[in-house]
Amino acid sequence: MAEPTKSATLTIDGTSYELPIHTPTAGPDVIDIRKLYAQANVFTYDPGFTSTAACDSTITFIDGDKGELLHRGYPIDQLAAKSHYLEVCYLLLYGELPDAKTLEAFEKLVTNHTMIHEQMHNFFRGFRRDAHPMATMVGVVGAMSAFYHDSTDINDEHQREVASIRLIAKMPTIAAMAYKYSIGQPFVYPRNDLDYASNFLHMCFAVPAETYHVNPVLSRAMDRIFTLHADHEQNASTSTVRLASSSGANPFACIAAGIACLWGPAHGGANQAALEMLREIGSVDRIPEYIARAKDKNDPFRLMGFGHRVYKNFDPRATVMKQSADEVLDLLGVHNNPTLQVAKELERIALSDPYFVEKKLYPNVDFYSGIILDAMGFPTAMFTPIFAVARTVGWISQWKEQLADPQLKIGRPRQLYLGDTARDYVDIENR
Ligand code: SDX
Repeated sequence: MAEPTKSATLTIDGTSYELPIHTPTAGPDVIDIRKLYAQANVFTYDPGFTSTAACDSTITFIDGDKGELLHRGYPIDQLAAKSHYLEVCYLLLYGELPDAKTLEAFEKLVTNHTMIHEQMHNFFRGFRRDAHPMATMVGVVGAMSAFYHDSTDINDEHQREVASIRLIAKMPTIAAMAYKYSIGQPFVYPRNDLDYASNFLHMCFAVPAETYHVNPVLSRAMDRIFTLHADHEQNASTSTVRLASSSGANPFACIAAGIACLWGPAHGGANQAALEMLREIGSVDRIPEYIARAKDKNDPFRLMGFGHRVYKNFDPRATVMKQSADEVLDLLGVHNNPTLQVAKELERIALSDPYFVEKKLYPNVDFYSGIILDAMGFPTAMFTPIFAVARTVGWISQWKEQLADPQLKIGRPRQLYLGDTARDYVDIENR
C-alpha cells in the first residue's frame, strides 16, 4: 500500500490528532485509525461496518452507485458472457486470466480432486434425511479437517494451495451428496470427462438405473450462476472467513464458518427466501399487499431478494440473472412461468414506488436466481448450498490474500460498553 499523501484531523477536547488517509485505486478514500486508540484513548463505533474498511484487497471491487462489479478489474457482465466458472476461479485465485495451456492444467487439477474420502460418506448418514443441506455442508466441510491433515498447515504455501484446490473441487461433490441424501437416492460419483457445471448437474440428477445426459443449456446456465456468485468483496460470509482465519484456524474450519454465515436469510439464504416469497405471493394481483407489508415499519416482512448494503442503483448480477432466467425458461419450454411473472411485475411495481426508490432498493443477485434453479429441478433448500459452492473460490481467494499479508493480526473488535460498572457480589439471603 502506498504511503498516505494526505490526512484527516480529529479534534477531541481541544487536542488534535492527524489520521493518515489512504487513496485506493478505486472507491472512496480510507482514513487509517489503527493508532487512534493508542493516541486518543477512544474507539470508533460502526456496528454492521457501514463505514469501515476491514482490510485492503486487490481481488474484487464494487461501485454501488454505478452498479459495477469487477473481478481483478474485469466487469462481471463480460466474465458472465465470455468466460466460464473455472477460468474465473483461476482469475480470482491468481490475479490474471490464464493462457490456454495454464487453464487446461488448472481445470485438470480441479477435476482430479473432485472425489471425497470414501469414509466421509458416513457423515451424511448421521443426519436426518430432512436436515437442511446447509447443515450437512457446514458439518461435512468442517469435518474435512479430520481427513486432509496434509493440507491444514496454513504456514505452508504448498498446503494452502492443496487445500484451496481440494475445497473448490470437492464442494460440488459434497453439495450434490447432501441433495442425494435428502431425497434418499444413492450418491453419484463425479466424472472426470465432464466440465465443472455438468459434473455438478450429473451428481445431482443422475441415477444408477439409467444414463443421464447433461442438457447443455442447463450446464451453461449452471456455470453462469456459479460465475455470478463467485466473489463479492467483504460481504458477511467472506468477512467471517477472514476473521476465522485471523486466529490461525485451518482452511476447512474457516470455510465451514463462511458456509454457516452464508446460510442466513439476510445473506445467501435470501435466494431460498425470495422464491418462497414469490410462491407465497402466488399471483400478480396479490403484489400490492406484500409491497404494503414491506413498507410497514411494524411488519418485519421484507421483500427478499431486494436491497443491498452496497448496490444503491442496481446489482449487475441481477441484470445478467434476469436475462438468463428468460433464456433458460424459454429453452426449457416453460412459458408464462407464474413465479417469473410475479417476479417481473413485483420488480416493476417496486421500482416505481417512492419507498423503494428513496431507499434505493433494487433486485439483488438472489431475486431471480431461485427461478432458474427451480426450473432446473432443484428444491429451494438447495439454492443456498449452490451459492456456497460458487462462493468457495471467493472465500478461498480472500483467505489466501489475508494469509499473505505480513501485517496480519488477529481480528479483535472492541465495543461501546453500556452495562453495569463494577459492583460487589450480593449473597443470596440479601437479594
Ligand atoms: C447477498 O454483502 C454482499 O455483498 C452480499 C451478497 C454477496 O454476494 O455476498 O451480495 C449476497 O446477501 C445479497 C442480499 C440478500 N438479502 C436479501 O435479499 C434480504 C432482503 N434484503 C435486506 O434484508 C437488506 O436489504 C440487506 C440485508 C440486503 C441490506 O441491509 P442494510 O444494508 O443493512 O440496509 P438496511 O437494513 O439498513 O435497510 C435500509 C432501509 C431500512 O429502512 P429504514 O430503517 O431506513 O426506514 O431499507 C429498508 C430497511 O427497512 N429495506 C427494505 C429491504 N431492505 C432494506 N425494506 C423492504 N424490503 C427490503 N428487502
